[in-house]
Amino acid sequence: MDMAERLRLAKEFGGLTDEEAMALSGLGGVDPSLPDRMVENAVGVFPVPLGIAANFVINGRDYLIPMATEEPSVIAAASNAAKMALDGGGFSTSSSEPLMIGQVQIREVADPNGARHVILGRKKEITDLANSQDPMLVKVGGGVRDIDVRIVDTKGGIDVVVHLIVDVRDAMGANAVNTMAEAIAPLLEEMVCGKVHLRILSNLARFRLARARAVWAKDAVGGADVVDGVIAAYQFADADPYRCATHNKGIMNGIDALMLATGNDTRAIEAGAHAFAASSGGYKPLTAFEKNERGDLVGTIEVPMAVGLIGGATKSHPSARAAIKLLGVKSACELGEVAAAVGLAQNFAALRALATVGIQQGHMTLHARNIVASVGCPPELMDEAVETIVSERRIRMDRAAEVVDSLKKKAKG
Ligand code: MEV
Repeated sequence: MDMAERLRLAKEFGGLTDEEAMALSGLGGVDPSLPDRMVENAVGVFPVPLGIAANFVINGRDYLIPMATEEPSVIAAASNAAKMALDGGGFSTSSSEPLMIGQVQIREVADPNGARHVILGRKKEITDLANSQDPMLVKVGGGVRDIDVRIVDTKGGIDVVVHLIVDVRDAMGANAVNTMAEAIAPLLEEMVCGKVHLRILSNLARFRLARARAVWAKDAVGGADVVDGVIAAYQFADADPYRCATHNKGIMNGIDALMLATGNDTRAIEAGAHAFAASSGGYKPLTAFEKNERGDLVGTIEVPMAVGLIGGATKSHPSARAAIKLLGVKSACELGEVAAAVGLAQNFAALRALATVGIQQGHMTLHARNIVASVGCPPELMDEAVETIVSERRIRMDRAAEVVDSLKKKAKG
């Protein structure tokens, strides 16, 4: 399909209006006041390609996945991995409640253990004060769920760190949690005779987890050797942080692309994912791969997912709004679960390529298309020209120009 046909299909699938389809593509241009409303000192916008990953069946439902990324191969790899998972029923997902953590750091407390007990004993008072900051959140079923107190030994002395654990429902939660953390600070200071320092949410959203699982039938992925190859690649990442950083980067290729397309905070998701990956003490993969009794590949992922469906760019950016409509997700938890499935698919695709033909083959074909297009190749000669320079392994402008030239001459007869 060409771009217009794909967009038409996405529009139909997501029930988008003409206006929403145009917003999704970004090709209708942006409202000139949008960048100025979103950031400071705006001068314009920076276009990133938006593509759609296909073949995702998650909990028995079909999804089209909008992905904003500058990296070639990512969308194709996710779609391909999702297709190979179809035999095994696609992805099944689950998630925890949308709980975020707000931290209040208290310094100069003479008796930190005693202070901890005082705070825990007055949980209700603190909870009520925090909840009074956001009656709307409480009305829709959110609000403070618990309070934890940690004693943290810093280079500057012992701190008492209060964790406000807040159910933020469909928000990313930063605004709600930060407001609550700031509001309870004077009360905490008075309770424990200390000095409040920082009051801010933690991006290590370890109580807000999304999980996905898929079974890739061994025949669908290229046989038992491929299954073993993917497992060995996972084991390498599990044993070695140098490899693990790249392994997790591959996962985030998918997750970030979906997050960006839906107007979510990609840095919050990245920070949470990597901090979670390191929370056992070593830096570990966010996914795991093993074999089931039939020898099929079972992949799983568990990752913090501080995503929102309301507020911020998810609401103010028309392309993000259209992307969310295309996805058809009904809650932030559902969006987080879809992201987990995309991350798992992305990781499987990378490991399968790495364990078989290598990653360059797919990359190079796309790269070759760009090179051939840039030397003015007519569309009807494109495939042959790309094939020629890829098979020769001479993916260079000079060679592309020669090949296109000779194909043009041949076509003229
Ligand atoms: C490239 O963007 C991502 C990979 O390096 C991931 C990986 O090595 O697993 C291919």
